[in-house]
Amino acid sequence: MNYLLGVDLGTSGTKTVLFDVNGQVIASATVEYPMYQPHNGWAEQDADDWWEATKSTVRTVLENSGVNPADVKGLGISGQMHGLVLIDENGSSLCRSLIWCDGRTQAECDEITAAVGAERLIQIAANPALTGFTAGKVLWVRKNQPDVWAKAKYILLPKDYVRYKLTGVIAQEISDASGTNLLDVPGRCWSEEICKAIDLDMAMLPPLVESCEVAGTITEEAAKLTGLVAGTPVAGGGGDNMCGAVGTGVVVPGKAFTTIGTSGVVYAHSPEVQIEPQGRVHAFCSCIPGEYVNFACTLSSGLSLKWFRDQFCQAEIQTAKEMDTDPYVLMNTEAANSPIGANRLLFLPYLMGERSPLMDNNARGAWIGLTAMHTRKDLLRALMEGVIYALCQNLNTMREMGVKPEAMLACGGGAKSPFWRQMMADVFQLPVKTLHSSEGPALGAAILAGVAAGLYKDVPTACAELVKENEPVMPIEENVKAYEPYYEYFLTLYPALKEAYAQLAKL
Ligand code: XUL
Repeated sequence: MNYLLGVDLGTSGTKTVLFDVNGQVIASATVEYPMYQPHNGWAEQDADDWWEATKSTVRTVLENSGVNPADVKGLGISGQMHGLVLIDENGSSLCRSLIWCDGRTQAECDEITAAVGAERLIQIAANPALTGFTAGKVLWVRKNQPDVWAKAKYILLPKDYVRYKLTGVIAQEISDASGTNLLDVPGRCWSEEICKAIDLDMAMLPPLVESCEVAGTITEEAAKLTGLVAGTPVAGGGGDNMCGAVGTGVVVPGKAFTTIGTSGVVYAHSPEVQIEPQGRVHAFCSCIPGEYVNFACTLSSGLSLKWFRDQFCQAEIQTAKEMDTDPYVLMNTEAANSPIGANRLLFLPYLMGERSPLMDNNARGAWIGLTAMHTRKDLLRALMEGVIYALCQNLNTMREMGVKPEAMLACGGGAKSPFWRQMMADVFQLPVKTLHSSEGPALGAAILAGVAAGLYKDVPTACAELVKENEPVMPIEENVKAYEPYYEYFLTLYPALKEAYAQLAKL
């Protein structure tokens, strides 16, 4: 039997999964690491924590499975996107990585927009300059850490750094590179025009590789450290959303997924590049050579519910422990005891500011319509509805662009909740499905490795064979009608508060 390794380099930890060629999980291991927040709005991680976690999880998985390492035919990495890793001429990481949810670079993003021109930037990079993306982080380090900058030879992204450690080959993979603001997305090459405008030496940008091609092979040294066999192929891999798409089979038009993880993502595949003129929805290269994706990212999806759990649900946490269940199960039951619309209460899930479609770091969370008759279950239901409305707002922007999904795959931790899935079906007005395998990004990375190693013909063929869907949850007509006025009202709230948020940020 042949096997494939998928490494999911996430924000809370790295999970490595060993699959057989039929996509069955043989073994998996996770190692967690810290995120540093030295100032309000900053978010950093140590690139060598990712490398240590990869080494140790690969080793553990090989040892626990008893699989002969020679039968592992390839490895792929799915990576948290946008994080800036600067390496010196010896390949050592020079400073903590500023990661995707770091929001310190608004001034640098404004600088990039002014230098390239707002419209032109969106034409080339397919996205506006965003604080989450990489280019602003590059300018921030150049300005604020000149000693680090002086030693920097290459700009890498999180998983590209780990792949470099495994293979010794310096490269950036194209789906992830789409989130740097430095790539010419329609042209699938680095943008000379953007680099010139911001005075960035293009020699710092490594050669580009496609997701499903071999980017390098395991070195003798990495073999000793991981237990893998030297020469094992390592695929380009992909950004976590694009790998998630492969792992859920969202690689053909008409398919789409919504992730309720820490962040929320609404994602659809597109054979051609489709740029949203205002940049409210991202356009990136997909893991399929020559094809593209559109996706929108909200910053506080599952994060909102986790925040509520940690702040207000100590009783549920305790009871869940006694009942050997998950506090979220109890919280779902409570929320379901409040009616649709939560007794005329709405929640704005902007606890970390908001990316798509508002692109406003100043936006903040709020319950609107609170009265003394409301109880905790109303607050909870309103919060869960607000998360879905924010995702639906993005789906509808994508619908305006011509994206017409026939069904929605629900992914991430939030998709485990039948209550949330039904709400998604009712508000999105689409059948909502889940998959047999919940390993999305790791399975996607393994599939990419399998294509690179020649075990599968191409990505869509592999997905058709390996990704199996469950029966859908259908929208309930009565619920659809009941949600509609609340969703419409939700859409009016941010525009009404925008100026107040800006004022609050200045206090
Ligand atoms: C996508 C994004 C997040 C991270 C999370 O643009 O910023 O989904 O990739 O890992």
